[in-house]
Amino acid sequence: MKPASETAVRPARSVRGSVSLPGDKSISHRYAMLAALAEGRSRIANYSTGADCASTLGCLRGLGVKWERKDSDNIIEIHGTGSSLTASGTPLDCGNSGSTIRMLSGILAAQPFMSELGGDESLSRRPMRRVIEPLTAMGGTIESHDGHPPLRIRGSRLKGIHYRMPVASAQVKTCLLFAGLLAEGETKIEEPLRTRDHGELALRAFGARVERSGNEVRIQGGQRLQGIESRIPGDLSSAAFFLCAAGLFPDSQLTISDVLMNPTRARLLDILIRVGLRIMVTQLEEAHGELVGTLQVEGGRLKGAMVAGADTAALIDEIPVLAAIAPYTEEGIEIRDAKELRVKESDRIAAIVKNLRAMGAQVQEREDGLKIPGQQKLHGAEIESFGDHRIAMAFSIAALRASGESVIRNSECAAISYPEFFSTLEKLVER
Ligand code: S3P
Repeated sequence: MKPASETAVRPARSVRGSVSLPGDKSISHRYAMLAALAEGRSRIANYSTGADCASTLGCLRGLGVKWERKDSDNIIEIHGTGSSLTASGTPLDCGNSGSTIRMLSGILAAQPFMSELGGDESLSRRPMRRVIEPLTAMGGTIESHDGHPPLRIRGSRLKGIHYRMPVASAQVKTCLLFAGLLAEGETKIEEPLRTRDHGELALRAFGARVERSGNEVRIQGGQRLQGIESRIPGDLSSAAFFLCAAGLFPDSQLTISDVLMNPTRARLLDILIRVGLRIMVTQLEEAHGELVGTLQVEGGRLKGAMVAGADTAALIDEIPVLAAIAPYTEEGIEIRDAKELRVKESDRIAAIVKNLRAMGAQVQEREDGLKIPGQQKLHGAEIESFGDHRIAMAFSIAALRASGESVIRNSECAAISYPEFFSTLEKLVER
């Protein structure tokens, strides 16, 4: 085991400069999996540099997929198998990645062989019944450890289903769309709230027909995919840390180029504008159905916000950093309907509460949310990341406006989604 790392973060005066970010994590997983199922070669530039997306590539290699990294622009070339994956002789290691295990389960449930999927300690605590139940209804056979990984999947011929998802989860939706692609007949999925639509857009990019009406998506089984050439937009969830950091200081001026602007992901921007940031979007373009743009951000007066319902679901990954800047707003931030945060890479509600309190902040914890009053003064503290990348990065941002230095424990976990985070942050902050 590698020794745990610590990173010290000192207070800052402003955030200034320009940055572009490694490719979006959600899109990287999906493109890699679909490229593996497609016919022909795919060339994917700006593939996520995070360990999670490397876990997906590692699993694909275990399943007989050939791919190579090229020297520049984080290009991955994947040689499609035309859907004929081969059994891995050993368990597939999904690392820390819920996306890998859930989405890949949809593909493996339809393969004519057995697979075992597992991962690290955090992944072994994540709920998997949400994919096991619908995949079983499609004809798959999946054994688990009381609804948790490791999963043993006996692949078989699947039948399409009409399924109403009880939880709003894009990972589950994508898992079922991938299973539906490989199943007989039509699969229709109804989501309780609109979740990120990268699964649908990626399938279309690779040539499949996916139809949507309202909160329902449909896919016909047996469609063939073709390899693509694409450049993945910068990860908006990684951009969130720098956007919030810029918001902490009136003198900030930050440009983030080539960043994902997909409307099902960009709710954070609406909330930050509501909170008081000045954000301008320029150079909006489309690439394989995904919107990409440049963000120009200036700090201002941070008011406050209440985030609930569909907004919470739409910015679920950005809530840790929103909570981390909440004490510095004038009116505070309240988050509701966020029960899902309890079953992410860590119990993120508990992790936020513990770290805010360590920094001297007041916060009210609820089963499904948080209430964080504004106008608080925080001091530097020892931050416990709980091995959760978004907690480590969120509290590095909180540390920028605290008095005194903070130390982020187990800070290496930032590499799960964004290995370059601390070095980029240091380049952007002025002290
Ligand atoms: C993701 C969906 C969300 C999100 C995760 C990535 C995706 O998870 O939290 O980081 O790529 O589909 P859920 O599907 O569990 O909500």
